[in-house]
Amino acid sequence: MDPVRNPYSPGAGRQPAALVGRDAPRSSWRVALERIERGRSSQPFVLYGLRGVGKTVLLSNFRRAAAERGWITAQVEAGAGKSLRESLGETLHAPLADLARPSAGRRLLIALRTALSFKASYDANGIWNFGLEAASAPGGGADTGVLETDLRKLVHDLAAAAEEEGVGLAILIDEAQDLAEEELVAICAIAHAAAQDEWRVLFAFAGLPSLPRVLAEAKSYAERFLYERIEELHGDAASEALTDPAASENVRWEPSAVKLIVEESAGYPYFLQQFGQDTWNAALEAAITYDDARVGAAAGRATLDNGFFRARWDRATPSEKNYLRAMADDGDAGSSSGTIAARLGRKPASFGPLRANLIAKGLVYAPEHGIVAFTVPGMAGFIARQPSTD
Ligand SMILES: Nc1ncnc2c1ncn2[C@@H]1O[C@H](COP(=O)(O)OP(=O)(O)OP(=O)(O)O)[C@@H](O)[C@H]1O
Ligand SMILES: [Mg+2]
Repeated sequence: MDPVRNPYSPGAGRQPAALVGRDAPRSSWRVALERIERGRSSQPFVLYGLRGVGKTVLLSNFRRAAAERGWITAQVEAGAGKSLRESLGETLHAPLADLARPSAGRRLLIALRTALSFKASYDANGIWNFGLEAASAPGGGADTGVLETDLRKLVHDLAAAAEEEGVGLAILIDEAQDLAEEELVAICAIAHAAAQDEWRVLFAFAGLPSLPRVLAEAKSYAERFLYERIEELHGDAASEALTDPAASENVRWEPSAVKLIVEESAGYPYFLQQFGQDTWNAALEAAITYDDARVGAAAGRATLDNGFFRARWDRATPSEKNYLRAMADDGDAGSSSGTIAARLGRKPASFGPLRANLIAKGLVYAPEHGIVAFTVPGMAGFIARQPSTD
């Protein structure tokens, strides 16, 4: 069928035509926004799960829900080559520029001045100009160089400005497992202070399944955060991820075709989008058949092998690939470091640096101490399909 009308969207962070199966966290987030608007507090949200399950899409949905209520929002991705200080600072410029106006209230003027000092803390040359005389207002001081101090001042003053405006401040951090230790500690401490003192701010973090442990190790009160495991889609939600986008294009799926793709994708959102896209392209008529789905699944598997999986595999060095092969014997469930080392005929400790590199590359994570698992569902199967010379 016409690829121009294809409603499926495989790809990191790409908003699906139908965001299904996430009603519970979306409604909790709405409740948290309303609580904060009424001067109550909420603990930070933590979305964690494997690659491709839809964490970024949900985090962006959270951000939009806040923005639609007029909130000041900042969504950043950790580990993308910038420090948290710089990425947060730069992301805040646009929403603050939108708020700045001659009639700005006292707290907003203070916040703008604090934001200017925060900017100066990482960029001595870049000058922001909000187009008003903020110089005479108090504020500033978010440039001591100590991250926790500066960030606390910034978040506090912005939250106070948000309150003055009758809204709130939402700070959303994706790939949060990649925050530096100092950044994690600072952000957890600030989130804790904010919840205690009822600042008008709401935090959300998204990241790999190791994120809850990483947060708990940074600060013990991170245990009180609201943890939401984001998983593959089950039952009707998985089917709707296929049928809803088609229905809005007046295209129908035969139930047997839906069943096949749901099974082939194991309900993983990324795979549903990929197989959905390929099945649509294979179909000739506005009713998608079982045969179309078979063709689509085969094409989708090839696309994933050549892209989604291949891109990760190619990131590994030859000795890392050997390690990953030894892991793949256990399937996707995870392996004990001791067992892998035994398979490779060496002591577990000798693999420490290699394992750390694989974690830094985002290929594996440690669900618990002494265990490693793939971050991507289906990676073990992909590795098993690779020739041993690759
Ligand atoms: N609830 C959903 N319903 C349907 N499709 C979804 C849903 N959530 C995500 N998707 C689709 O799944 C794919 C992956 O989404 P996303 O990039 O948000 O995953 P992720 O968990 O952030 O992955 P990564 O760990 O690689 O960053 C995208 O193609 C997106 O359109
Ligand atoms: Mg993501």
